[in-house]
Amino acid sequence: MGLIARLQERVLGIAPWDASQISDEWFRAHFEYAAEVVNQWIGGVMDIPRSRFLNFGCGDGITDLSLVLRYGATSIHGVDVRREYEKLPRIAREQLGMRRVPTALSFQTIKSGDSLSQGSAQYDGIMSWSTFEHVRRDQLSLILEDLHACLRPGGYFFIQIEPLYFSAYGSHLRRYDETPWHHLLATEDELWKVIEAHQGPIDPAEVDFGFADFGVEGYKRFVFNEYKALNRLTADELVAFAKSAGFNVAREERRSLDISPPDSLLAQYPRDWLTNNEIFLLLRKG
Ligand SMILES: C[S@@+](CC[C@H](N)C(=O)[O-])C[C@H]1O[C@@H](n2cnc3c(N)ncnc32)[C@H](O)[C@@H]1O
Repeated sequence: MGLIARLQERVLGIAPWDASQISDEWFRAHFEYAAEVVNQWIGGVMDIPRSRFLNFGCGDGITDLSLVLRYGATSIHGVDVRREYEKLPRIAREQLGMRRVPTALSFQTIKSGDSLSQGSAQYDGIMSWSTFEHVRRDQLSLILEDLHACLRPGGYFFIQIEPLYFSAYGSHLRRYDETPWHHLLATEDELWKVIEAHQGPIDPAEVDFGFADFGVEGYKRFVFNEYKALNRLTADELVAFAKSAGFNVAREERRSLDISPPDSLLAQYPRDWLTNNEIFLLLRKG
């Protein structure tokens, strides 16, 4: 944020906003649900208004905006390998009638695996929502060690992943394919044919603001490539990676879907891999 924006905000205050204007379900899912969950987990152990936060894999920054507007955050730096956050001023205008994004927010495009710590523990808290299943597996240790170095001693790091890869909709393709565990049962070609043949609307809560850039068919290809790049992390593996990067587990919750996996998959994978679709993990730097 520039100096002029800061001066403007100091004089005029945070721009007015109105949540009754929200019309987009993706926006609502992040502005309301995701931010509420982050607040419950992080707000329980940290003083949000007095803390400096890093959001690793911030996407379009809607959750960060909500943490500022609804929970009083005053400093969130979002980093991502993509530039979706550049859409935030337009999105905030359209969904909240907000004319200026708060100066509490800053964003940065990084290359995967770039060091963010640069030798100093600059953040009191870190959050990461639906991102760690997308990080290249061979970079997980490096990235978690760097995030550990970013955090001040006693700071917290909240990670959420949903859906986990081996769960019923762990492909992240449910918007096109409702068959549970289809990605573990079908070949890649068979799966792509289902996606390719899909007609009609998809769940609006699953349509991000990048959809318009890709168009209907381009978005299918984008989502399928994302599926192929998933690191297939299980909840136990995530916890093990985090611990070996130096974090302590302060709290965790694993959720499962109430559907029974087919016997053919139970013969190949542990039941809890197949049923556990979500993890909330609160880590602490000792
Ligand atoms: C499913 S999106 C979630 C975005 C955002 N947290 C949200 O809830 O909308 C996953 C995000 O992780 C980002 N990502 C993937 N690998 C990354 C990496 N190595 N470093 C930083 N961001 C990464 C992607 O670009 C994408 O924006």
